[in-house]
Amino acid sequence: MKENKAFFRLQHLCVISLILIRVALTAKITATTPSPLSLSRMEQYWSGSAMNKSKGMVENLQSYGIIKSRKVAEVIENIDRGLFVPNGVQPYIDSPMSIGYNATISAPHMHATCLQLLENYLQPGMHALDVGSGTGYLTACFALMVGPDGRAVGVEHIPELVSFSIKNIEKSAAAPLLKDGALSVHECDGRQGWPEFAPYDAIHVGAAAPEIPQPLIDQLKPGGRMVIPVGNIYQDLKVVDKKSDGSISIRTETSVRYVPLTSKEAQLKGE
Ligand SMILES: C[S@@+](CC[C@H](N)C(=O)[O-])C[C@H]1O[C@@H](n2cnc3c(N)ncnc32)[C@H](O)[C@@H]1O
Ligand SMILES: *[C@@H]1O[C@H](CO)[C@@H](O)[C@H](O)[C@H]1NC(C)=O
Ligand SMILES: *[C@@H]1O[C@H](CO)[C@@H](O)[C@H](O)[C@H]1NC(C)=O
Repeated sequence: MKENKAFFRLQHLCVISLILIRVALTAKITATTPSPLSLSRMEQYWSGSAMNKSKGMVENLQSYGIIKSRKVAEVIENIDRGLFVPNGVQPYIDSPMSIGYNATISAPHMHATCLQLLENYLQPGMHALDVGSGTGYLTACFALMVGPDGRAVGVEHIPELVSFSIKNIEKSAAAPLLKDGALSVHECDGRQGWPEFAPYDAIHVGAAAPEIPQPLIDQLKPGGRMVIPVGNIYQDLKVVDKKSDGSISIRTETSVRYVPLTSKEAQLKGE
């Protein structure tokens, strides 16, 4: 009887600690990502699977409710992330991955979240600007959505990443759009935007700004939308809508963690 009691106490303790670990894990995950995608579960999901990886990733993001529309699912299936990461980097795991130069390729669920938020502003013929285009992955997705009569522009301040992204895009389903000029990537300080093809229906910023750069607000079309992480240590993904009268409304979508939108020098020093 005494032994039994001790056993139950032990079992009880185990259950409690399991719950605590679970709560801690969930809290940690939700603090850094907008939805509790479990890494181990995703790794398990992929391991040993010979299936089409983009398609599997899409199904997973759909099951978590991050991909909501057919159009976003299609573009993520068609632009293979595997073509956009450096050798040795796992492309389909739901985590940001280092691409050198103190930059990262954002996690699949962040790319999907931004594509969902911008979907209506990425219709055929529309203009899209991707600030901090890095690997070129999201710029390629934008190009596929706006099509040959639209404009997808990537701006990135690390010259090596600009050439890397162009090579990646050339291997992808967006290659014809790059060739035709509907997609282009430029080396510049993205905080200035890219006036040449403004105004933009959609602006995405892939690095966290201390505050929203005014040139980007100016280059947003009335009726257009910008998605931008704002903050330093604590960052919020902001959705900036410019109404047809030119007035601006801003709401917070979720808390996020991005590398800073900063000067090239500060980024390379890791500041
Ligand atoms: C988190 S990475 C995301 C890249 C891209 N969205 C992707 O997933 O591949 C942010 C990128 O912003 C770039 N960046 C940071 N500050 C910048 C600035 N002022 N002008 C242009 N690019 C900048 C970095 O070099 C980096 O490539
Ligand atoms: C994965 O599937 C998509 C759409 O079904 C297709 O466009 C793509 O080429 C496939 N990729 C591979 C590596 O089979
Ligand atoms: C990245 O930042 C660190 C400081 O955190 C710095 O020491 C390093 O040189 C930087 N790496 C690159 C590739 O610029």
